[in-house]
Amino acid sequence: MEKYINKIQKGDALKKLKNRNIFPDESIDLIITSPPYADKRSDQYPTKTSKEYVHWFRKISKQCHRILKPKGSFILNIKEHVKDYQRQPYTYNLVLDLIRTGWLWREEYCWYKKTAFPGSWPGRFRDTWERVYHFSKQKDIEFFREPVQVPIGDWAKKRFNNDQVSNHDKKRHFSNTGSGLSRQVDNWQNKEYVDPHNVLELVSVTNNTNHSAAFPVELPEWFIKLLTEENDIVLDPFMGSGTTAIAALSNGRKYMGIEIESKYVDIAEERIKEENKKLDVRITDR
Ligand SMILES: C[S@@+](CC[C@H](N)C(=O)[O-])C[C@H]1O[C@@H](n2cnc3c(N)ncnc32)[C@H](O)[C@@H]1O
Repeated sequence: MEKYINKIQKGDALKKLKNRNIFPDESIDLIITSPPYADKRSDQYPTKTSKEYVHWFRKISKQCHRILKPKGSFILNIKEHVKDYQRQPYTYNLVLDLIRTGWLWREEYCWYKKTAFPGSWPGRFRDTWERVYHFSKQKDIEFFREPVQVPIGDWAKKRFNNDQVSNHDKKRHFSNTGSGLSRQVDNWQNKEYVDPHNVLELVSVTNNTNHSAAFPVELPEWFIKLLTEENDIVLDPFMGSGTTAIAALSNGRKYMGIEIESKYVDIAEERIKEENKKLDVRITDR
């Protein structure tokens, strides 16, 4: 396996994933990927129809399950398109199929694309978000909340003025809706950082990747920080322009990748070369 680490394999994801020399059982810490969406961009790379999608992806997810470590995670970015005025529900079938075939569906994150292109469509508005699913093999997973925590915000300074806490804030208050959820505000006293929520506000794509469906580096980066430690191995079986590799390297992780199109392998390798140059400069600057 060693010789395939920090490399992109050119070829079909399923064929490569099945190769036990490249991917032994339980060898990968995190899989994060955005596969080709159904019926989209078939002029640029191979795609599947909505009808064949679930069947095709089942074979890929089975291999992902085999190669993922027990405490590892599988992050899947996908969004159903609109055809004949209707959102295509294959992504719903895909999630149900993943659950049926042994995955635990832990969370659905919303990637809110702050800079999504404007436009006008009959009977709907601008689409500014995509789904990012989190699956795991078992309940107990690697999960590091601190690296993704966010500043608590100015409200806390005002609320805990001069370390004064009101009697109201010292008590636990239950939601009026009867949901059973509750909060005790003084739990936040002296905290600088708090947990984020499950809406990730990121720009669509910040850099010129020469790939029409690239995600921003910040997307894989966020999950890499949350779900892995230094030197862990992050795999993207649909590597495209190499965004996951860049996020892994710049955070001290290793990457493995698969990409079917030579043109994207070339782009990814060029980006990785540039990233490694930057990292070398940072190391010699120390
Ligand atoms: C949505 S793009 C991924 C973009 C990537 N996240 C990025 O930031 O550049 C999907 C990629 O999967 C590749 N692909 C399509 N079918 C494939 C297959 N069977 N095996 C491996 N790669 C494939 C496409 O060429 C495309 O680059």
